[in-house]
Amino acid sequence: MAVVTAELNTRPVSVLRITVLISGNGSNLQALIDARDNGRFPVEIVHVISNRPTAAGLDRAARAGIPTTILDHTRFSERSEFDQSLAALISVHAPDLVVLAGFMRILGPELLKDCRCPIINLHPSLLPRHRGTDTCRRAIEAGDSEHGSSMHFVTPELDGGPVISQVRVPVKAGDDAHRLMARLAPREHELVVATLELFCAGRVKCVDGAVIVDGQQLVNPLLLNDHGTFTR
Ligand code: GRF
Repeated sequence: MAVVTAELNTRPVSVLRITVLISGNGSNLQALIDARDNGRFPVEIVHVISNRPTAAGLDRAARAGIPTTILDHTRFSERSEFDQSLAALISVHAPDLVVLAGFMRILGPELLKDCRCPIINLHPSLLPRHRGTDTCRRAIEAGDSEHGSSMHFVTPELDGGPVISQVRVPVKAGDDAHRLMARLAPREHELVVATLELFCAGRVKCVDGAVIVDGQQLVNPLLLNDHGTFTR
């Protein structure tokens, strides 16, 4: 298939070239690999980068024939040096989009400025609730009746960028963080894939901090329903 780069925000690309950043298990990366292999959408995962050498997601990528790079953040004394190296690594494959899928590092403003394509992040909460880590435990402790995951454009504000899409799951009596995450994980995988499908179709862009889908500004994030499609 021909590879068409850039202009992601203005028209569909024939193949969306993505770089995926991970830190651990990589089950969301696997969901993308499976969607690619099933022909669900025309995506090419051009590069997987992990900041942790032992991330299981590296094996998933290697098995799928995707180039991988380890950029171990513990080898950098300055956060800015890590960011510079990461920006350089990303640019090697010139992706149309960078997807953070379980990537547990904060990206500095310089990297965000240097990156030539949009960066989106998967976050396991219904943003703006529960930014940061340990979100399932915090949702339970806050007495939330619902929890979920969000995909958002990355900005310098931690988990604070414009939200594109969300999926919700109930918090049930007797839940602990592990049980709640087990309920959320398969829905989160669907969210990642369905959201990437929108990008492949050139239907999403971010303009002046607003998410535009099909030419209209989102008032609320797209909500993934039980049929795996989005409700506006
Ligand atoms: C996911 O829950 C994601 O929302 C969060 O980290 C987890 C990563 O899971 N940011 P995996 O590595 O994709 O299995």
